[in-house]
Amino acid sequence: MKKSPLIKTELPGPKAKKLIKLDKSYVSPSYTRIYPLVVEKAEGLWVHDVDGNIFLDFTAGIAVNATGHCHPQVVKAVQAQSEKLLHMSGTDFYYKPQIILAEKLNSLAPGKGKKRVYFGNSGAEAVEAAFKLARWHTKRELNLAFFGAFHGRTMGALSLTASKTVQKKHYNPFVPGITHIPYAYCYRCAYNLCYPQCDLFCVRWVEDTLFRTTVPPEEVAAIFVEPIQGEGGYIVPPLEFHTEMYKIAKKYGILYVADEVQSGMGRTGKMFAMQHFGVEADILAMAKGIASGLPLGAMIAPADIMNWEAGSHASTFGGNPLSCQAAMATIDLLEKKLMENATVQGERLKAGLQHLQKIYVCMGDVRGKGLMVGVELVKDRESKKPAADWRAQIIRKTFEKGLLLLGCGENSIRFCPALTVTSAEIDECLTIFEEAVKEVVG
Ligand SMILES: Cc1ncc(COP(=O)(O)O)c(C=O)c1O
Repeated sequence: MKKSPLIKTELPGPKAKKLIKLDKSYVSPSYTRIYPLVVEKAEGLWVHDVDGNIFLDFTAGIAVNATGHCHPQVVKAVQAQSEKLLHMSGTDFYYKPQIILAEKLNSLAPGKGKKRVYFGNSGAEAVEAAFKLARWHTKRELNLAFFGAFHGRTMGALSLTASKTVQKKHYNPFVPGITHIPYAYCYRCAYNLCYPQCDLFCVRWVEDTLFRTTVPPEEVAAIFVEPIQGEGGYIVPPLEFHTEMYKIAKKYGILYVADEVQSGMGRTGKMFAMQHFGVEADILAMAKGIASGLPLGAMIAPADIMNWEAGSHASTFGGNPLSCQAAMATIDLLEKKLMENATVQGERLKAGLQHLQKIYVCMGDVRGKGLMVGVELVKDRESKKPAADWRAQIIRKTFEKGLLLLGCGENSIRFCPALTVTSAEIDECLTIFEEAVKEVVG
């Protein structure tokens, strides 16, 4: 039977209204809730709010619930572990789930040699660990990162971030020595050039200009890069972008750090998005989808790079037994069939959106890989003027119709459902999205 969203109260409903009022009194106002959804329970892609309304979730809790909400195999693994051991701190003691997961991640990370894994609790912690390791290993102080990048909100990760000024306002000074450079955002090229005639000017500029004028390459520890930019707008660079940038990094002994926090763990149809580009990054940071909703971050590097000494970095809760078991169950599901499903359903989603793009001129760009798909909204195709207002109205409208979506970049919408998504759920999402676009933009 076809499953559809069910909205039976005004939104927010009465119970949601009361809780939101309490939230406004007691919870940090720094969070960016864009619609008033108060969740009670969820299963697969279906989220129930406290008033009994049912929503189709194409956010996966910001690309986290890779296996869908409360996948029975993940729940079972967590329940079984919770009866045995909740915490012992991998920083000072050993326990099997952490060791087994480290071995598994070793086998998944591209590259033949032996690698080691550092465990934290979040994406920012994974990036922070990579940032520290790059300095520790190279003994160099400078780093490169990209405009549009989002690497997290702790001070080191935030220093690498260059997505929105609201994320950085009043937090200066940041960690020194970071230079931000343009990403290959070809829809809005920073140099006003066109791919492929540009001959990847944005990459050549790093060596030809930056390294000759202001940034001595032999002082650069690492280049931090998202294989596909997430929060910045779901931006997919051309195929050779990473290979060419990586070549420059290797020429000067610079580490290439792939932030796979959003793009990793099968979301793009491969375990890591960098595998689409044929580059084996030196350091990988991952989190979000790794444990289907339990807090876990991991940073992987070759053993000869992760050779820091005992006491140089650690975290009390990092890699706790519950999260590790959730990750093992998640990876098992990804490998068995969910990564393949991400490819198949991602193509269906992208094709559906590309079809709508032919009808609605406000859909300036449709891009993505697997189930990491973005739509950039513009006032018109010629000026490409960002339509941030329409983006907000469309997301609000889809919410009212029972479809959960999130924005990214200044004027894009991200579609990042659980990797368990079915064809029927993709089609339902496309139908509701089209209705919303038609009602907002016409
Ligand atoms: C690419 C990337 N890196 C790092 C982070 C930070 O992750 P967290 O919010 O778990 O700290 C995010 C979060 O959106 C992300 O998308």
